[in-house]
Amino acid sequence: MALNDWMLLLHPTIAIVTIFPLLGIVLYQALLTRKRRLSLKDGQKTPIPATSGPEHVRLGRILSLSVVAIALLGLAQPIFSKLLASDALSKTPMRFLGLTLVFIVTGAALPLLDRAKNRAFRGLFALLTGGGLLLLGSQPEIFHRDGQWYLSHYYLGITAALLMIFSLVILQEIYRDRTHRWRNVHIILNSFAVLLFIAQGLTGTRDLLEIPLTWQKPHIEALYKQSCQTKPCSVESQK
Ligand code: HEM
Ligand code: HEM
Repeated sequence: MALNDWMLLLHPTIAIVTIFPLLGIVLYQALLTRKRRLSLKDGQKTPIPATSGPEHVRLGRILSLSVVAIALLGLAQPIFSKLLASDALSKTPMRFLGLTLVFIVTGAALPLLDRAKNRAFRGLFALLTGGGLLLLGSQPEIFHRDGQWYLSHYYLGITAALLMIFSLVILQEIYRDRTHRWRNVHIILNSFAVLLFIAQGLTGTRDLLEIPLTWQKPHIEALYKQSCQTKPCSVESQK
């Protein structure tokens, strides 16, 4: 396999090894946190430890940071591999440097968002992180699957990453709000995020099947061109 092929495998490997196991633990702790809170509310004793809530939040924050980081890695691979293949560094250096800067600012705003205590700063860093993801995602190097957005690894992945950013933004509000409105908003949105993560496993695996290895690419392209001469090309191709 060529270096490019190994680079392509980096994002899925990290997602499988880190995001999905972490998600399992965060979900388990979420159920314990809720069970414990409801038991105590009903005046019942519960064997669930008081650490389940703080543990859910500690790992939830790591999950949020990891999901945004993995989305950035997923965006970086196609953008930089295509830019380097088209010699963009010498042809369009300003665009190359501009995109590199957006990656750096987005990546730097992420830990700052996690650490910010002040509401205004949280808003600002969330805007920088989310805006950066959307700006990078809108680049022509990214395959969006616009005609089938509901099965698009890009649209579902960016939505999941934005929901994780939102979880970080409202973290303090969940504790402050005595009416549990933010708690319920959190549960509804993040249950939806869990479905999106499952969809990422499915659509990511499909995308890996669709992207040929470097040595296969010229043969597949030749076959594709050949078949287009005899019948209309209806198959949507990633590369
Ligand atoms: C990814 C899927 C997630 C799901 C399904 C989920 C679900 C839940 C549930 C069911 C609760 C308990 C609510 C209750 O007491 O009734 C909870 C609490 C909480 N979650 Fe999550 N959550 C997720 C991720 C996250 C993340 C990523 C963060 C932080 C960035 C987070 C922060 C919190 C906080 C601050 C609480 C309150 C904890 C407490 O009361 O001690 N959650 N979540
Ligand atoms: C939480 C999990 C994940 C998130 C948030 C995520 C997000 C993303 C994003 C935003 C992109 C760039 C847009 C695109 O090309 O579609 C991407 C690319 C990609 N992802 Fe994921 N992804 C996740 C998990 C996975 C998994 C589990 C796999 C495979 C098993 C996978 C395979 C891919 C592939 C093959 C690409 C295309 C890279 C290219 O075009 O060169 N992803 N991902």
